[in-house]
Amino acid sequence: MEIIKVDLGARSYNIYIGSDILQDLGRYLKELPVGKKVLVITNPNVRHLYGKIVKECLSGAGYNVLVGEMGDGEEYKTMVTAERFYDLAYESGIDRLSPVVALGGGVVGDTAGYVAATYLRGVPLIQVPTTLLAQVDSSVGGKVAVNHPRGKNIIGVFYQPHLVLADINVLKTLPPRELRSGLAEVIKYGVIWNEEFFFWLEENIEPLLAGEAGSLVHVVRESCRIKAKVVEADETESGLRAILNYGHTVGHAVEALTGYKKYTHGEAVGIGMVVAARLAWSLDLLGFSELSRIEALVRRAGLPHKLPENLLLEDLVESFLHDKKVTGGNLTFVLPERIGKVDIRKDLTRKILIDFLNLR
Ligand code: NAD
Ligand code: GLY
Repeated sequence: MEIIKVDLGARSYNIYIGSDILQDLGRYLKELPVGKKVLVITNPNVRHLYGKIVKECLSGAGYNVLVGEMGDGEEYKTMVTAERFYDLAYESGIDRLSPVVALGGGVVGDTAGYVAATYLRGVPLIQVPTTLLAQVDSSVGGKVAVNHPRGKNIIGVFYQPHLVLADINVLKTLPPRELRSGLAEVIKYGVIWNEEFFFWLEENIEPLLAGEAGSLVHVVRESCRIKAKVVEADETESGLRAILNYGHTVGHAVEALTGYKKYTHGEAVGIGMVVAARLAWSLDLLGFSELSRIEALVRRAGLPHKLPENLLLEDLVESFLHDKKVTGGNLTFVLPERIGKVDIRKDLTRKILIDFLNLR
């Protein structure tokens, strides 16, 4: 079992990573100054797989456990769902010390996190991520949100968890497509921060795709280490943290323009990373051999790497301009300079983007 500390002063917390550690949740929770009533938020799918073990281990550790379910899917990451949990919390007498445990992927984690951040102006949040994407990214760093009908993650806050527990063993039941989606965020860390890690991924992509436990522990640990460093340096994204959005400006546009149905978040990020690398190459920022390595790894991870043919160029650019990262009308694009180093560019005009996209 590995412990990674996210060092944020009074808001510091541990990430526990290991195989077969889900049943230890009650033990780790006891180390925190939280109350005895626990609200576990999950979905029917994850509850069926892991609800019993979590409930039993928490009850066994002396907690009074209440389970709340939300629908399975991005379309349930809404204020309507959050309000249902506020009702449940109110009716069950959840108080300021009662922890909310988010048991699931990023959709459950973001929604439960938003509920924990806002109910009674904040109750303790425990993240128990059960997808690779949630273990390497969404459960760490404190971004919690629900979607607005007109935009993804529009309603949210920064709210750090009190503890993250990532049990690699639960990834055994994850559909292969979801495993591949998580790998997109893993590849992202190699490109933005660490060439050695990128190289390791090039060497080990096959065992990862086969779900080999040792390789998965390695990628969850390295990804969390990198994310912790970035978040420690810039918790609320006033600068450096924006590098975590590599591949996301294009990725979010692709998700939005295809109605959040055609691609998973990770698949859209796969496309976004390759498009951003191509843009960097077209601007002479990135060499061709590095572009080829990024594209090859995304493809080998079984992720899409091309913009869908039927997307209109104007719609894409409009969508970029509605990105959360737009400030004062300026787009923010994270572009690789080499593998392991990216630049945050705020000087890309509409014309530059249109000229580039015309060439696709
Ligand atoms: P998800 O939460 O929808 O989970 C994918 C599917 O896997 C679901 O059907 C779920 O029920 C199922 N599942 C979960 N764990 C399982 C398991 N162990 N075995 C079998 N099935 C399992 O998708 P996701 O990719 O985990 O998360 C995507 C969400 O995360 C998006 O809403 C995205 O915006 C958000 N996100 C947030 C951050 C952040 O920093 N907060 C970062 C990246 C992504
Ligand atoms: N997933 C991007 C971030 O946490 O900043």
